Amino acid sequence: MTNRKGPMNRLSVFPVYDTIPKMSKQVTMAEVAKHKTDKDCWVVIKGVAYDVTNFLADHPGGKKAILMYAGKDATAEFEMLHKPDIIVKYGKDMKIGPVSN
Ligand code: HEM
Repeated sequence: MTNRKGPMNRLSVFPVYDTIPKMSKQVTMAEVAKHKTDKDCWVVIKGVAYDVTNFLADHPGGKKAILMYAGKDATAEFEMLHKPDIIVKYGKDMKIGPVSN
């Protein structure tokens, strides 16, 4: 993800796709698993960890739906219930960084 010569980086000429903050940090699933409460909630979607704590109350699908996946990988359920552009739009501000394992 940090390799600027990699093919994915070509997408960054289109700002809408560039949702990875400059300070994006790599995390492990073990680290993600520690954040599993409504006061501190991380989820993983497509290999990227997000801190959704402040979004829980605003989630159109309700707080409980996300909390079922607190500290876990929610990719399958997320993809079943949302349009792909939702993670681009909302994920930008909540992104922690790629999960390394
Ligand atoms: C980063 C995490 C998530 C974000 C940013 C997010 C965002 C959203 C947004 C924007 C909508 C409204 C969609 C629309 O109106 O077209 C929505 C709906 C919904 N979400 Fe999520 N979501 C997330 C995670 C999850 C998870 C993990 C579940 C697990 C089951 C979930 C379940 C739902 C459901 C059931 C709805 C439909 C609500 C309805 O139409 O009544 N979401 N979500």
